[in-house]
Amino acid sequence: MSALHANTAIVELPFNRWDIPEQNPQIQHSLELGDVLYLPQLAFPLTKKEHELLTPALVSPKRKNISYQPEKQNINGVADASRTEEVQQLVDRYYRCAVSLLGSLLPGYRQALHSPTTSLRLHPIAAWRANTSWRKDDTRLHVDAFPSRPTYGERIVRVFSNINPHGEARVWRVGEDFASLSARFLPELKAYSPFSSWLQAAVGITKRKRSHYDHLMLELHDKMKGSTAYQQRGLQQSIEFPPGSTWICFSDQTPHAAMSGQFMLEQTFLLPLDAMQDPQLSPLRVLENATQQILI
Ligand code: SIN
Ligand code: FE
Repeated sequence: MSALHANTAIVELPFNRWDIPEQNPQIQHSLELGDVLYLPQLAFPLTKKEHELLTPALVSPKRKNISYQPEKQNINGVADASRTEEVQQLVDRYYRCAVSLLGSLLPGYRQALHSPTTSLRLHPIAAWRANTSWRKDDTRLHVDAFPSRPTYGERIVRVFSNINPHGEARVWRVGEDFASLSARFLPELKAYSPFSSWLQAAVGITKRKRSHYDHLMLELHDKMKGSTAYQQRGLQQSIEFPPGSTWICFSDQTPHAAMSGQFMLEQTFLLPLDAMQDPQLSPLRVLENATQQILI
């Protein structure tokens, strides 16, 4: 391991409520470095009635999670229509809590965060492993890249809360800093084909044409998951997030893998690069510097 390689830092924050006073920019800087912000005392409490929703049977067959688009109030993946309203109230409350938290924790992003998606994850992680291809297997270390929704360099910010009612932690592995990670994998990434990307958009595989950046991020995601050597020997550490805790990271930057656990809420936002304190730390700028090319 060279001295340049640094493990992701887990930064503990003491907050125990979703509405907190505005924080100083150091927290945002830490997130931009690729740290995981860990709030061990920030629980998302469920009512007694909501606890009855914690069963994998509530997720439509063939879907991984229940997902919600707060701005359209559009919910997908609830198997039992009679519970839809209750589930929607739950995920919408989580969304509003996440907006409130990030607004104060990361005030520099407040006006810029957009395209929220909320997910309620009810399946045990062990069930994915059995039912998915290696590419979709999130028990392998990876950075997030959306196959059908190119981000053109915008950041993926995610908030996670463990809502397990039986005391079971969600166990993750997290990996090294993005500059070291991408330096390791860049020589293996397949070259970009503007024509293939155009075609994929034309036939509807992607919502818009995949940029060179999005291509490299997907390649990186796949090469990471596909490498047994990296999975076993890449720089990494294990961390347990117990029920009643919340954590936040840039999931397009911080290598992560979910190893065990069940029942979680997750809130995603996209963030334009110019909202960052230091855009040079973004995967787009790191890849552009490493390849000496403009990637979007
Ligand atoms: C992931 O984002 O890769 C999975 C995280 C989780 O479900 O804990
Ligand atoms: Fe992921």
